[in-house]
Amino acid sequence: MAKILVVDDEHSILETLQMFLEEKGLKVFTADTGARGLKIFKKKQPQIVILDIRLPDKNGLDVLKSMMKNNFPSKIIMITAFQDMETTIMAMKRGAFDYIHKPLDIDQVEQAVDRAVSILKIDKETPSLKTISIKPSNPLAIIGKSEKMRNIFKMMGLVCTSRVNVLLQGETGTGKELTARVIHMNSFFKNDPFIVFDCSAVVDTLLESELFGHEKGAFTGADRTTKGKIELAGNGTLFLDEIAQLPLKIQGKLLGFLQRREYTRVGGATVLKSSCRIVAACNSNLSDMVNKGRFKEDLFYRLKVFTIQMPPLKERLSDIPLLVEHFLNKINLELGTMVTKIQKGVMEQLVNHTWKGNVRELENTIVQALVGCCGNVLLRDDIDKILTLNRSLPVMGLESFSLAHVEKDHIKKTLSKLNWNKSQASKVLGITLPTLRSKIKKYNITPV
Ligand SMILES: Nc1ncnc2c1ncn2[C@@H]1O[C@H](COP(=O)(O)OP(=O)(O)OP(=O)(O)O)[C@@H](O)[C@H]1O
Ligand SMILES: [Mg+2]
Repeated sequence: MAKILVVDDEHSILETLQMFLEEKGLKVFTADTGARGLKIFKKKQPQIVILDIRLPDKNGLDVLKSMMKNNFPSKIIMITAFQDMETTIMAMKRGAFDYIHKPLDIDQVEQAVDRAVSILKIDKETPSLKTISIKPSNPLAIIGKSEKMRNIFKMMGLVCTSRVNVLLQGETGTGKELTARVIHMNSFFKNDPFIVFDCSAVVDTLLESELFGHEKGAFTGADRTTKGKIELAGNGTLFLDEIAQLPLKIQGKLLGFLQRREYTRVGGATVLKSSCRIVAACNSNLSDMVNKGRFKEDLFYRLKVFTIQMPPLKERLSDIPLLVEHFLNKINLELGTMVTKIQKGVMEQLVNHTWKGNVRELENTIVQALVGCCGNVLLRDDIDKILTLNRSLPVMGLESFSLAHVEKDHIKKTLSKLNWNKSQASKVLGITLPTLRSKIKKYNITPV
């Protein structure tokens, strides 16, 4: 029989809840002060607590904090007459399981208690996975044991011993950038820079100077000589993301560089040299772009000498369980959560899903599940909600389901979970710190 403790200074509430909860088959303890509540809590170790915030001797939020310090898992449901957002957020941040407002609606209490009982039951039935621990995981690990991934590893091994240029092709989220980083880290020039340049993120007029640098006075506003990405890459790697977006004119200059290994800065005459390795990434088929006349054939042949085709997740479903465990380890550490169990059926759910966003989408799903998680089990219900919401996005068309709305909401939750540590949040969200800052500004997200 599950034990439940109710802490409230209103005796009528204690009596009503005691009667109601006993009828539900729970062993009920009651306390009318914070101190008495804490004493019973330590002695009886109830699995569920219903805790009022305004108590005569203590603030319920402090009682919650003391209870959370104990190492037996309790689901603590807060109740209060305060309707303010700050208290709710503070309670959730301190680990409350749920939050109910007064006047008490008995249906709401029942729902919260039932949910707690059911999660406790799942928790008890589900074994902890030995493979999940709260230890730092290697951020440059490429997870996969499928044949497709084993072939990718072989190709990476081959490429690491030379400076040959590499073309990485594959759908969005298949791990092109990660692969580029790992190739660099395993090359003999791993201590030289790894520079990322997103060909789609810079306006056409600035692309040339971003890539090749410019001399002082080369154009209006060029008040000092600036190095381009090629120069910054030195003897290391230049990762050219979204190479298909490069305008034809710049493609020509890049081709010239690849042929002679020489270039000039914009507005300059000095011939500069660089032996950096180019790793280019593309999520469309580059040869189609060549056929359409949108990509220079010569450049394509230069780049494709060593092509690695990243498989979409649907072609390596057997890797999903490994990826899930990897992300649980990684995200637990980043969010400070302790999800070490996976409810029966979750893996099947994940394997059966159509991952249009590939590994990135899978990782984001696990992040979303852990941000909203209040225990140590990855629950089928939670995954179901996330997958349903994500799947319904394009068809719903309702304002609250717009991508912008979901993005804003997700950024907000992540920041709040991480106490507004923006650099940690940017890592968890998989975006750069400046991008996160610009999104916070764009969506007007403020700490509450
Ligand atoms: N095999 C893998 N093992 C572990 N993590 C992976 C793997 N593949 C991708 N990831 C993770 O998935 C996310 C997306 O990967 P990445 O940015 O490399 O994809 P991409 O192919 O460059 O996508 P896009 O085309 O959208 O830029 C990253 O967080 C990356 O670490
Ligand atoms: Mg990428």
